Amino acid sequence: MTVAISTRELTRRFGDFTAVDRVSMDIEQGELCAFLGPNGAGKTTAMRMLTGILIPTSGQADVLGYDLLKQSDDIKAHIGYMSQKFSLYSELTVLENLSFYAGLYGINGHSLNQRLQEMLELAELVHRQNDKVATLSRGFRQRLALSCALISRPALLFLDEPTSGVSPSSRRAFFEIIRQKASEGVTVIVSTHFMDEAGRCDRIAFFNQGRLLALDSPDYLRNNVLEGHMVELELPEPVSQLERLKALPYVKECSLHGLMLHVLVREVNDQTALEQYTGVQAQPIIPSLEDVFIALAKTRESR
Ligand SMILES: Nc1ncnc2c1ncn2[C@@H]1O[C@H](COP(=O)(O)OP(=O)(O)OP(=O)(O)O)[C@@H](O)[C@H]1O
Ligand SMILES: [Mg+2]
Repeated sequence: MTVAISTRELTRRFGDFTAVDRVSMDIEQGELCAFLGPNGAGKTTAMRMLTGILIPTSGQADVLGYDLLKQSDDIKAHIGYMSQKFSLYSELTVLENLSFYAGLYGINGHSLNQRLQEMLELAELVHRQNDKVATLSRGFRQRLALSCALISRPALLFLDEPTSGVSPSSRRAFFEIIRQKASEGVTVIVSTHFMDEAGRCDRIAFFNQGRLLALDSPDYLRNNVLEGHMVELELPEPVSQLERLKALPYVKECSLHGLMLHVLVREVNDQTALEQYTGVQAQPIIPSLEDVFIALAKTRESR
């Protein structure tokens, strides 16, 4: 196993406020890892530190074998980064944007044309290479931004909420590309608010209030984090039932998923008590990632 990223107690404060709090993690080369967490959880701040852009307040990290504190320029030269506001020049054409990024990485000569062509194909923008970026849909701008981040063929790619604001079909197509890159051995870190996307990653790093609360595969998280027995049931006016169910002594957690209620009871036998109380049948289910993260976030708050 080759480690692409290894951090120890990585911390970033802004004044008195701690945005990233003692984060320690190891990420393998070729892993597709999601950074998941609510707004303000510290995902972007963690990413900006790992790209060498933002200096940590304390802690250490090794990125692609380079020391984050001493060799941040080497790190910047070997990674791709697509920031939350993708940095494209809207008054320049598609090709001019790609050429600009190629120039930043010193790509020239024969490999330049080849690389530009490859990236135009990846973005599916071959026929629009001379169009201004301002005329592209958000979905195509996103694909172009990804191509710009990949033009140097980085071993490590950081994508900060690349799919926010684009259509579900564009999101799926985009995720296919990054899965493909990971299977080619590129380590990909992608922050997202979408559980379905996180669920398609090899591992999920769950952040809340600056802390890394979990780093595991989606399957592991669904099957091993919650203590108790999760059931699903359907009741009329489910919203108004939430508080009533939560007050039951054997109910640990209760939340709404579409029209269904997910109820975490203490043990298998409590299902019968719940069925008697509500008068409807409950189905045992494997918790969703949402269930897991609601519970994880709570454990942190009560600490
Ligand atoms: N330059 C800064 N100065 C002061 N506070 C900052 C700065 N950058 C980030 N923060 C604060 O740090 C916290 C974490 O922010 P960050 O952008 O890392 O969160 P995030 O998980 O990426 O959120 P989102 O999902 O909204 O993108 C927030 O409370 C934010 O206001
Ligand atoms: Mg962010």
